[in-house]
Amino acid sequence: MTRSLSIVVDQALAAAVRAPSPHNSQPWRFAVDGDRIEIWLDRDRVLTVADPEAHEARISCGAALLNLVVSLRCQGVEPRVEVLPDESEPDLLALVTRDGNHRVAVEDQTLADAVFRRHTHRRPFLDRTVPAGVRATFARAASREGAGLHFVDTEYAHLAALVRRAEFLQAGDDAFRAEAARWTRRHAASPDGVPLSAAGPPPDHDGVVALRESHLDPDLPVRAYEQQPLLAVVLTPDSGPAAEVRAGLAMQRVLLTATSVRVATSFLSQPFEVASTRDGITELFRPLGRPHTVLRLGYGYSAASWTGRRPVHDVVVPAGRRGRDGGWR
Ligand SMILES: Cc1cc2nc3c(=O)[nH]c(=O)nc-3n(C[C@H](O)[C@H](O)[C@H](O)COP(=O)(O)O)c2cc1C
Repeated sequence: MTRSLSIVVDQALAAAVRAPSPHNSQPWRFAVDGDRIEIWLDRDRVLTVADPEAHEARISCGAALLNLVVSLRCQGVEPRVEVLPDESEPDLLALVTRDGNHRVAVEDQTLADAVFRRHTHRRPFLDRTVPAGVRATFARAASREGAGLHFVDTEYAHLAALVRRAEFLQAGDDAFRAEAARWTRRHAASPDGVPLSAAGPPPDHDGVVALRESHLDPDLPVRAYEQQPLLAVVLTPDSGPAAEVRAGLAMQRVLLTATSVRVATSFLSQPFEVASTRDGITELFRPLGRPHTVLRLGYGYSAASWTGRRPVHDVVVPAGRRGRDGGWR
């Protein structure tokens, strides 16, 4: 490694914060000491209504971890990654240390470039099939992180019903609506939350896709969405906090791989955010593993709509400075 360590780490953290998170809440903190980087869950940024148990927040931190790893490899550092959360320190999610040098390959550069090009695409996709060979690449990406990616097939109608049911229940929940309103329709320059420019057009009919109401721009003309979107579920063999971090690693490797072949992606998370539909989706995919998130994949035809991020110095805390009360000193 010829570059200075602090430049390498700064670059890796800049990649980490480009990870997706629900409502762009960015629920992460990084404690840095030389080449030792701890990833912490930031409880203050967990969505208390939509995600009270922080499932989605830990998935997001797993995605940030993957970006970090991809960036380090691309800079010639071989990272050693330990996924950590346990009962004694539940919010310390992962530790990354240096495990020697890495010979940079084309794939490292491809994924590292995708980190800064990936974004959530909330517009209609073309009715163009994602070829089987490309889908197989995505499934391999998930399995590289010890997870599975299942393309929804016979479960389609059942899953669509769960998405619509959750959306309906959330629409009638004042606390949920208030939380969504706080985080969405922000100004384009906002360092967190979802700007209106990243919202999609209202659909011309109630299709399967059911994008979140808070992620639609009512002032855009209605548009037809694809008839049968390609949906994929990220699954792990086990459940619990560590499995959620691993699901985030896998999800992000899939998203970056998709970005690298110009496949657009978005999320359908509503069923994971309502207790009854969460049980329903867990049951639906039980034979395959523990479901964590549903991705919508396809070919989009609009320019990127970027969301902001807090600067790295806002999310880095000095190592070993966490107080007994869990707060940072
Ligand atoms: C676990 C998880 C769940 C998400 N759920 C949704 C969702 O249901 N609907 C949606 O439009 N976006 C969803 N998102 C995407 C975020 O809103 C998006 O990542 C964030 O606004 C940052 O924007 P970007 O992905 O374009 O960088 C989710 C992201 C994560 C990580």
